[in-house]
Amino acid sequence: MPISRRYFVSALGLGGAGLLSPPLFGGRGHEARLADWLTSPALTPQKAGLIRLDSNENPNGPGARAFEAIRAMFGEANRYPDAPEDALVAAIAKEHGVSEENIILGCGSSEILRMCVEAFVSTAQHLVTAAPTFELPENFAMTMGRPVVSVPVDARLRLDLDAMTNKAGGAGLVFFCNPNNPTATVYGDADVRAFVARIRRESPATFILIDEAYHEYVDDPSYKSAVPMALTDPNLIVSRTFSKVFGMAGLRAGYAIVHRDTARRLRRWRLGSGVNVLALGAATVAIGDHEHIALEQKRNRDAKAFTRAYFEKEGYEVGVSETNFLMINLRRDMRPVREACRREGVAVGRPFPPLNTWLRVSIGTMEEMQKATEVFRKVLA
Ligand SMILES: Cc1ncc(COP(=O)(O)O)c(C=O)c1O
Repeated sequence: MPISRRYFVSALGLGGAGLLSPPLFGGRGHEARLADWLTSPALTPQKAGLIRLDSNENPNGPGARAFEAIRAMFGEANRYPDAPEDALVAAIAKEHGVSEENIILGCGSSEILRMCVEAFVSTAQHLVTAAPTFELPENFAMTMGRPVVSVPVDARLRLDLDAMTNKAGGAGLVFFCNPNNPTATVYGDADVRAFVARIRRESPATFILIDEAYHEYVDDPSYKSAVPMALTDPNLIVSRTFSKVFGMAGLRAGYAIVHRDTARRLRRWRLGSGVNVLALGAATVAIGDHEHIALEQKRNRDAKAFTRAYFEKEGYEVGVSETNFLMINLRRDMRPVREACRREGVAVGRPFPPLNTWLRVSIGTMEEMQKATEVFRKVLA
């Protein structure tokens, strides 16, 4: 049988409407789920024809090799996933040229983010984050009653690294999303190193979590992953995910690369067996499937260029984007526009205060973006 999304869905018996309970404080922050499902129960992800440009997922799903691995793993569903975990850790270590001791798996990178907040943020040692950035660390810290200092992005929608550094004194954890969700901006290697060095000088005990969820989408040549830094600096953690370019957001797999001493400390906060066997099987082959990654990068680049050209031609300011989503300044409250788009069958990003006039549009397939731009044209007319 050919491997296809239809096969995958029917094999898992997910064709029905099954609306799951939303998480209390969001596996993906509020990644389009909690508020939407509560306020618009009819608008399930399965709603026929809905174009999902709201959660920065890869619309094409996993590659053929990953699908094959998922199918092969069905037979392991009755077993705890110890051996498949070892296989994924080995594959990640090989891909990065690091030791297996440097890897921690997570149920999505969300679990890594949660572990870092639990391990390093306390009532005495605050979290430094940004506004807006990926909300999950802040949400966890606030739910746990731990102090949070949130630093607004600058006028170019970039994380304000100087201001974040100024707030880092005595902090337990600094969350540095690079590229940043939702603003799609990225810092190059020199800036990242300078930021880390300054925090090291001024607050040596502070941990820095560099979230590289969108790493594979970056085109900026000045960018480099912080993974090499994490191997020598025990206070630096790099998180990665299989939810974006790998197309596996629904499977839930992510990981951290850290110094082995920090890995030992962080692992205590892990949910044992948190990654399911299907995700483990898929991720183990996906991480080395460079052909598939290159294909997805190209598809994203092409559909993003098309979408950018549409908005710019219409006279809107579009932010730089080193990710699989765009920020567009509508110069008016984005909320009614978002609602109108939903009524027309296109789901777009939630509000990201204080950027209340900016709309985040995730990049779908070219066909989806062609249809979506017709909806944007109608709604924005
Ligand atoms: C920057 C960033 N980090 C982490 C996550 C969590 O991803 P996951 O738990 O699916 O790996 C997301 C999800 O959108 C994200 O945008």
